[in-house]
Amino acid sequence: MNISIILAAGEGTRMKSKYSKVLHKICNKPILEYVIESSKGAKFEKNIVVVGDNEDQVKAKFKKDIIFKKQNIGENFPYGTGYAVMQAVDEIADEDTVLILYGDTPLIRKETISDFMNYHNENNLDATVLTSILENPFGYGRIIREDDGSISKIVEEKDATEKERQVGEINSGIYIFKGSLLKKSLKEINSNNAQNEYYVTDVIEILKNEGYKVGGYIVEDANDILGVNSRLQLSECESIMKNRINNYHMSQGVTLIDPNTTYIDSDVEIGRDTIIYPGVSIEGCTKIGEDCIIRNNSRIIDSKISDNVYIDSSVIEESTINKNSKIGPYAHIRPNSNIGEDVKLGNFVEVKNSNIGNNTKSSHLTYIGDSDLGENINVGCGVVFVNYDGKNKFRSSVGDNSFIGCNVNIVSPVKIATDTFIAAGSTITDDVEDGELAIARSRQINKKNWTSKK
Ligand code: UD1
Ligand code: CA
Repeated sequence: MNISIILAAGEGTRMKSKYSKVLHKICNKPILEYVIESSKGAKFEKNIVVVGDNEDQVKAKFKKDIIFKKQNIGENFPYGTGYAVMQAVDEIADEDTVLILYGDTPLIRKETISDFMNYHNENNLDATVLTSILENPFGYGRIIREDDGSISKIVEEKDATEKERQVGEINSGIYIFKGSLLKKSLKEINSNNAQNEYYVTDVIEILKNEGYKVGGYIVEDANDILGVNSRLQLSECESIMKNRINNYHMSQGVTLIDPNTTYIDSDVEIGRDTIIYPGVSIEGCTKIGEDCIIRNNSRIIDSKISDNVYIDSSVIEESTINKNSKIGPYAHIRPNSNIGEDVKLGNFVEVKNSNIGNNTKSSHLTYIGDSDLGENINVGCGVVFVNYDGKNKFRSSVGDNSFIGCNVNIVSPVKIATDTFIAAGSTITDDVEDGELAIARSRQINKKNWTSKK
């Protein structure tokens, strides 16, 4: 079986955070989740995460199909990447292929892991290290190669000789091992080094000395192995991930007017010929159809937008907008709303937990909460569906082809049938039958010459 061991027990002190480093997000998703997804995507079906003091926080965020192993952290316990891997040995079978990853490298792609795995298999290697050549290798473990290209050892910066420090090829910390060899050689490592740590890198030299074939595969895109140790690196990874996502959508036929200010989460889908203006955020599992126009400063979260929808400066949460509808500017569509086709919801219209039928229009200053509106309804300016009495919420409904005048209050629960006309300024508390006109306000009285007498 292909198994991965993801190391995530380090403290991440440079983040200066009360939250585990691997739970910090880039493009709205925890960095550890990217690592797990890439591992699974490259067909490593069993994923083990080594956690430390962050155990409870991390476990709470992840699904049942991850195996967690606890590494004790503190002065009385050993430390180091080798000790971390040891926590997972009882999960490794001799015939397994073991991939080691870090939980804080969110940019590692499944394609990179697959290429790395192919290199390991095609060259019949016993262990393979994912490496990179850096202009400034300071701080990383250096890859020491033999004349034949095989790797003889990895030396940490703090243990390296002056000559070894000149080497530009570095250890990413990502490896593939044959299960039996990893288990066997882990028993032989010790902490006799500058940092008093158990180094997993020592396994490489042990295997080499025992005559096994150890190779190195140079990563194609060095960004893949970038780690997050600080808020600055978090923002750098965010920006690289954002560019990857935006470039993908542009390659699929989406226009981004200004990719620098367009924020799209990694699981979002967008149809071709949709145009996205500056300052837009599209989040979660949102799906957007073709030929949509999403104007500046809109935010769309976990929603489904059909084809040819126009959205301007609006917020849409957990809702569906069907084709040819126009939303905004400055509309707020709150969760569990279903907006039909050819609907118009204009300036300062708020909709919550409601269904709006095809062709219905509400252009200005309206609140529609917990209600079901049919088709071809005109909702005038300033209408309020009064859904809350201070204790409970109630639903109302309005039938097709009705006209709701300006500044009407509909005090839920009421049923307004089809083809009705509700006079402006009415406060509706009773049901209205098909075809009726409802007026619910006092009649106007004009008093002659009143101002001059006063
Ligand atoms: C390690 C490698 C180094 C490599 C570098 C790449 C060793 C000895 N060195 O360096 O060759 O160039 O990564 O970034 O392996 N972790 C645990 N438990 C521990 C210690 C670490 O889970 O006891 C985890 C950390 O959470 C982190 C990862 O292992 O995700 C790497 O730890 P870190 O301290 O950053 O590695 P280095 O020693 O700097
Ligand atoms: Ca490090």
